[in-house]
Parts: sequence; C-alpha cells; structure tokens
Amino acid sequence: MAAPLLLLLLAAALCSPVPGLAQQRDAPGRIAVVGGGIGGAAAAYFLRQKFGRNVRVEVLEKAAVGGRLATLEVEGASYEAGGSVLHPLNLHMKHFVKELGLSVAPGHSSLTGIYNGEEFVFEESNWYIINLFKLLWHYGLNPLRMYMWVEDILDKFMRIYRYQMHDYAFSSNERLLHALGGDDLVQMLNQTIDEAMQKAGFSHKFINEVVCPAIRVNYAQGVKINGFVGAVSLAGVESGLWSVKGGNKLVCTGLLYASKAEVVSGTVLSIEPKVRPRRTGDPVKLYQVTYNTTSGLTGDTYDIVVIAAPLNHEMANITFKNFDPPVPEFPNLYHRVVVTFVHGRLNASFFGYEDPEAFSFSAIFTMENPKLFIYSLEVVSPVEDGGDEGKASLQSAIWKTFSKDVLTKEQLNLLFSSYDSVKVKTWLAYPDYSPPEKCPPVILHDNIYYLNGIERAASAMEMSAVAAKNAALLAYHRWYGNSDKIDQEGLHEKLKTEL
Ligand SMILES: Cc1cc2nc3c(=O)[nH]c(=O)nc-3n(C[C@H](O)[C@H](O)[C@H](O)COP(=O)(O)OP(=O)(O)OC[C@H]3O[C@@H](n4cnc5c(N)ncnc54)[C@H](O)[C@@H]3O)c2cc1C
Ligand SMILES: *[C@@H]1O[C@H](CO)[C@@H](O)[C@H](O)[C@H]1NC(C)=O
Ligand SMILES: *[C@@H]1O[C@H](CO)[C@@H](O)[C@H](O)[C@H]1NC(C)=O
Ligand SMILES: *[C@@H]1O[C@H](CO)[C@@H](O)[C@H](O)[C@H]1NC(C)=O
Ligand SMILES: *[C@@H]1O[C@H](CO)[C@@H](O)[C@H](O)[C@H]1NC(C)=O
Repeated sequence: MAAPLLLLLLAAALCSPVPGLAQQRDAPGRIAVVGGGIGGAAAAYFLRQKFGRNVRVEVLEKAAVGGRLATLEVEGASYEAGGSVLHPLNLHMKHFVKELGLSVAPGHSSLTGIYNGEEFVFEESNWYIINLFKLLWHYGLNPLRMYMWVEDILDKFMRIYRYQMHDYAFSSNERLLHALGGDDLVQMLNQTIDEAMQKAGFSHKFINEVVCPAIRVNYAQGVKINGFVGAVSLAGVESGLWSVKGGNKLVCTGLLYASKAEVVSGTVLSIEPKVRPRRTGDPVKLYQVTYNTTSGLTGDTYDIVVIAAPLNHEMANITFKNFDPPVPEFPNLYHRVVVTFVHGRLNASFFGYEDPEAFSFSAIFTMENPKLFIYSLEVVSPVEDGGDEGKASLQSAIWKTFSKDVLTKEQLNLLFSSYDSVKVKTWLAYPDYSPPEKCPPVILHDNIYYLNGIERAASAMEMSAVAAKNAALLAYHRWYGNSDKIDQEGLHEKLKTEL
C-alpha cells in the first residue's frame, strides 16, 4: 500500500503550483489590451509569451499605433516627434530591436551650450581634454560624482531584468521599486531631485547649471520633479544614446505583429464586470469592454484587460461601470509640451553672439529663467539617417525645440534669422511631477491591470516595457495562482547565486 500512496502524494505535488490550489485552471480565452503604444505592444508580446498561442489577444487603439512614439514629416523626411532617445542599458528595448530585426541608429554627437537667458554658462568644445578642464574648472568633482550617483541608481534599476527573467512579478509599482532598491529608492519618489542631490552634497551651481537643463530637455520641468525621474533625466544626457532606425514606433508595429495580436481601431469608453453562468461548474467572471469605432458603438467580453494608456479625462477617458467596490480614481495630471521643428538658420545674436560664424552649437540647453520661452533647441536628423551632423549643415538645419506654448511668429523671428518651414506637435507628454509621488495601482480589479502608473516614478519607453512585462507576469501568476512568484522579498540576494 505504501507505493500507491507515495505516488498519489507525488502526483498531487506535481499538479498543484501552490499548496492548497490543486485545481488547474482553464487558460483564459480572450485578453484585451487598451492602447497600442510601446506599453500596449510590449504587453501583447509578453502576454503571448506567457499564455501561449491559443489565447486571443486584441489591442484596442483609438489613434495611431505607436502612441507617444511618432514621427513628423518635415520637407520630405521624418523626425522623431515624441519619445526619441534610448539609453544603452535599456535592455528590453534593445532586445525588441534585435528580436524584430530592426537597426539601431546611434545618437549624433552635438556641441552643447548651456544658456541662462543672458549668456552661455557652459560651452562645449570639440576637444575632449578642453571640456574636461572646463568641467573641473566650473564644477569641481560634481560631474564625476554625478556620474557615479546615477550609476548607482541605474545598477539597482537593472536588477529588474534578472527578476523578470526568473518570472517574478510585483503587485504594485512601489513594491517593484522596493524590490530593486529598498526604502532608499522608494524614498526618491518622496523628494525632489534638488533635495536629493543637495543631501548628497552636490553644489547649487551644479544643480542649476547642469542638472536643471538636463531635466528641462528631457521632461520640460524643473528641479522640483521627483528624485527618481530626475536621475532618469541625468542618465538621458549620457553618451551612447540611440534610437531605432526608421523610427522608434517600428518597435510597436513589430511587437504587435510578432505577438499575433489583433489590432482593433476603436476608443474604449467603458469597462464593466459581467458574470456568465455555466451549465457546469462556477460561473465565469468576464469584463465587458465597450468601444467606439467608425461604424458606431460596439464591444466584447474578455477574461483579462490590460490598460496601457494614461487614465485621466483628457487621455484614456474610461468609465469603470458597476464595480463594487468602485475602481479607485487617482489624480493624474499630464504636462503639456509643444515640439516645434523649424528648418532655418539660428539667430546667433539672440544668443549673444556678434559673429554668427563663431556660433557652433547644435544643441542648446537652458536654465530656468522666466524670460525664456523654450526649454531646449537641438539640430536633429531624419529617422532614416542617424549619425553625425556636419558643421556645414548648421547654416540651414532642422532644429527641434521644446516649449510650453506654441511659439508665436515674433518668437520664431527672434530665434531664427530666417526659416522656411515650421511643423508643430502638441503633446500631453508625461506626468506633471510633484513629489511626494504616489503611483497609481497596477491591479485595478481581479483581472484588470494598469501599466501607466509607473510613469509617476518616471516616464520613458523602457519604463513602459518594464511595466508591460510585469503586468503580463502578474496576470499569468494570478490567473494560475502562482503566489510564490508575486511580491517576493529578498530577490536580489536569492538570485545572486543563480545564473
Ligand atoms: C515629446 C516627448 C519626448 C519624449 N522623449 C523620450 C525619450 O527621449 N526617451 C524615452 O524613453 N521616452 C521619452 N518620452 C516618453 C515616452 O514617449 C513614453 O513614456 C512612452 O512612449 C509611453 O508609452 P505608452 O505605451 O505607455 O503610452 P502611449 O504611447 O501614450 O500609448 C497609449 C496609447 O493608447 C491609446 N489610447 C488612449 N486612450 C485610449 C482609449 N480610450 N481607447 C483606445 N486607445 C486609447 C493612445 O492613442 C495611445 O496610442 C517622451 C515623450 C514625449 C511626449
Ligand atoms: C512617501 O510619502 C507618502 C505620502 O505621500 C507616504 O504614504 C509614504 O509612506 C512615503 N514613503 C516613504 C518611503 O517615505
Ligand atoms: C463615436 O465616434 C463617432 C465618430 O466616429 C462620434 O461622432 C461619437 O461622438 C463617438 N461617440 C462617443 C460616445 O464617443
Ligand atoms: C469623459 O467621459 C465622460 C463619460 O463618457 C464624459 O462625460 C466626459 O465629457 C469625458 N471627458 C472628456 C474631457 O472628454
Ligand atoms: C535676432 O536677435 C536680436 C537680438 O535679440 C534681435 O534684435 C533681432 O530682431 C533678431 N532677429 C533677426 C532676424 O536678426
């Protein structure tokens, strides 16, 4: 009798992924992803990876696939108008590009000047050694220490790849950040980058002249943004930045294709829980998703819904109907940014240069000054090229500016001594950062997941990809009851020895 009993026990152990949850659940039939930006496309890709080929994945997109990754055409060539640069250690994005057979366009080196509204406080030269002396002269060891400070945060952030490779998921954005860097990292959401760097001993001068302009060029905000997104801005001005040849949005179309998701053109208006009785067994809990297409109002039911668009009245204005308790609402203000492309010649005298020939910057970062009507100004190349800008092209280049408001004719006439064409794109670009920051939840209901809460920590393509993988893993583990893969403590130590 001993042998069959042992066999039975063994069988039971093999069948149940979690003690006490012996029943293997049916696979989900249909999953909806709301939004076809990088978050939604990556979610579709990872959901397919986890749930296998039989589940139907539908991506509902109200406008164009790519979302905040989009190009704009200026005089016959395309330029990145939204999310444009990636860090060399953005490993999910790197993996996607490789997997999809896309090519990398290296970022072009530009000569940068930092302008305070009256004069340039820092002027980069073509000579590495001169730049080094200038940096030391102006800021002492601050630049080197900043590099190490950012590196330390980046090291912690990089732990996510190992956790996700080992299939671990987190039920909230705070828990995810905590698993990466403990209280210190979570604490960064509760203080401004200014406070964080002052505490770390950086000088006022350095914070105002270097850190602030880096934040303005990346997030069109100042040193009052939270410490984590501030650190991301600083990583965003490091060397080795890259983008996707042909446009970053190609990653979205590529991932949607690879995931064999069905892309549906429609605006999701509401989500409502439904219970469908079955002849045998427990009733099925589903979600009715109602969306608007060109042929009118329609909808469908899904087992799992992943929301990959910012929830607020101006963006993904989705009503959660008849939930008990109601799906929580959270304040989620987004920052308006105007991107303007100008084909023209810069007005060197506006920037205090008597001799236009002496003016050789191809990137101008700015300090905070109420007189200034732009955050930054930079020469850009078409998404098909990438690579270096010659100085000759400065005579008549495509400049990209970030500003708070649409530039008036008078402002354009101040910035440019002459210009041919102007193209404008206004975005609700990223959260209006104002610490202490609380990230919206990842789990909105039993099987509804929300990606964009992570943007409160920092908004970036890679952050959306990290959130997408986390949501796919979380949805999978919750569906099958694998609680040993959710919110585990001490992962860093635990996985240190594993390959
Ligand atoms: C000007 C600018 C510059 C940036 N620069 C960088 C950068 O250099 N590097 C970087 O990493 N990041 C950058 N970012 C941030 C980056 O672009 C975003 O973090 C990222 O693209 C967000 O992707 P997402 O898929 O989460 O959201 P989104 O791209 O916003 O995708 C959401 C999608 O959902 C759709 N949608 C919304 N509501 C509904 C609905 N009700 N029904 C159906 N569909 C809906 C939208 O149309 C959209 O396509 C920048 C952003 C902007 C705007
Ligand atoms: C950050 O501030 C919030 C309140 O906004 C608080 O609930 C949270 O505990 C704080 N987190 C840390 C790590 O101090
Ligand atoms: C649905 O879309 C049509 C046009 O495509 C629009 O006229 C209508 O107002 C939309 N309805 C809702 C409820 O958004
Ligand atoms: C958001 O949706 C609600 C309900 O459909 C609607 O009443 C409201 O006008 C919408 N808000 C915006 C800004 O579109
Ligand atoms: C250039 O800038 C100077 C100084 O701000 C300004 O007086 C002039 O009008 C601007 N425009 C041109 C075309 O020179």
